[in-house]
Order: sequence, then C-alpha cells, then structure tokens
Amino acid sequence: MPQQGKQLYEGKAKILYATDDPTLVIQYFKDDATAFNAQKKGTILDKGVCNNRISAALFAYLESKGVRTHFVKQLDERSMLVKKLEIVPLEVTIRNITAGGMSRMLGIEEGIMLKPPVFEWHYKSDALSDPLINDDHIIAMGWATAKELSAIRAESFKVNDALKAFFNDRQLDLVDFKLEFGRFQGSLLLGDEISPDTMRLWEHGTRNKLDKDRFRRDLGSVEEAYKEVLRRVLGESQVCR
Ligand code: CDP
Repeated sequence: MPQQGKQLYEGKAKILYATDDPTLVIQYFKDDATAFNAQKKGTILDKGVCNNRISAALFAYLESKGVRTHFVKQLDERSMLVKKLEIVPLEVTIRNITAGGMSRMLGIEEGIMLKPPVFEWHYKSDALSDPLINDDHIIAMGWATAKELSAIRAESFKVNDALKAFFNDRQLDLVDFKLEFGRFQGSLLLGDEISPDTMRLWEHGTRNKLDKDRFRRDLGSVEEAYKEVLRRVLGESQVCR
C-alpha cells in the first residue's frame, strides 16, 4: 500500500499528493467549489466525498468498457490512488444537448439535442478561461501530436457512448462533460475526475439539473444533487453519509 508523501499541487477542487512510488499519486477531493473561472467561490458540503466515489465508480465502469484511465483504486472517502500522468494541456468537451458555454457562444437556447454530438478542444488555461481551439492550434503549438489528437478523440467518443448508456439506465441525460488526458509510460490515459463538477446531468422528464449548475446558478439543493447522483451511480442502497 503506497504511503502518502508531500503535497505536489493544490487545484480548485482537488489536491495531489506524492506517494513512495514515483509512478503513483493520491488525488484528494475537497468540498471547495468555484465557477466562472473562480470568480464565484463556495463550499458544497460533502462534495469531495461524493465526487471521489462517483469518479471511482465511473472510472471502474469505463475500464470495464475498454477505456484506459489513470484510476488504480479508491483509498478512502475523499481520496483515490491514480497513475501519475504528464497532463496534455487540453480539455475535451463533448456535448449531446446544448447548454452552458455553447449556448452562450452561439446565442442558442439550452436543451436542443445535438446529432451528432459536438466535440470541442479547449486550451487548459485559467488565465485565458480555457479558450476554444482547433487541431491546428494544438499541433502548431506542440501541445500534442496529430496521432495523439486522433487517439484522444476516438477515446472521448467511446467514453460518451459508455456514459450516455450508463446514465440513461439511471434516468439521467448526459448533457455534456469535460475530459482530460495524460501520458503514462508511452500511452494515453483518461485522467482528472468525472463527477457532477465536470458533467451536466438532467433528470429524465423533469429536466431537473443534478450537477454544478445548481451552484453556478444559485438553484438551491446543491448538496442534495451531488448525493442524488451518487445514489443513482452506486444503486439505491448506497448513500453519501
Ligand atoms: O461550464 P461552462 O458553461 O462555462 O462551460 P461549458 O463549456 O458549457 O462546459 C461543458 C461541460 O464541461 C460542463 O459539464 C462543465 O461542467 C464542464 N467543464 C469543466 O469541467 N471544466 C471546465 N473548465 C469547463 C467546463
């Protein structure tokens, strides 16, 4: 069992710790929440517990569907052991239904089905608010190779198909989500987290939002939304505390 070492990095929602194995790190999930490029800050009680458990379950599910991820195992309520990645400085967004940034950018209402789903690259930069970019920007800047981009794109659509089916079975629509990838011993792995912080989930029928939009838009029942997603991901008998 790897021992926790020094703190390597503190982000907005997570802390990374070294371990005594240089290829492994511990990802710790905080209750801190930020939105609009950290202009809005707050705390969502037990969000870290929910997101750790939701991410662990979704990584394990995706691995079972042939997606290679950084996930090794869940360690405790708020932490998981993951492979140490050299992060590719890109965020992938896949959208199945219009919402958020796409609706703002194009002046279109939320809730329109997108067929086929829309794939976006964003440059990972808080200072620049993660700008939308295309393949040419990435290759010209040397952030990733053309071969890596096609591998990431194919893997991201595989994730979309698997997660859409998973949430559909749980009466939730997967509206959109963000993924990050990294390099590990010559291959690309899915990294970061998959949680209501990084995806939009709408309840079938009611279209009730069960994700970070409840915090972003002051919709109330924020904690309850994370707990409801956890309950649906793990099954009826499991609740978040
Ligand atoms: O969240 P916002 O409306 O600003 O941006 P978006 O591009 O519509 O976000 C698409 C999806 O990616 C949503 O599920 C966001 O929660 C997620 N996202 C994220 O996890 N991290 C970011 N830096 C930006 C978006």
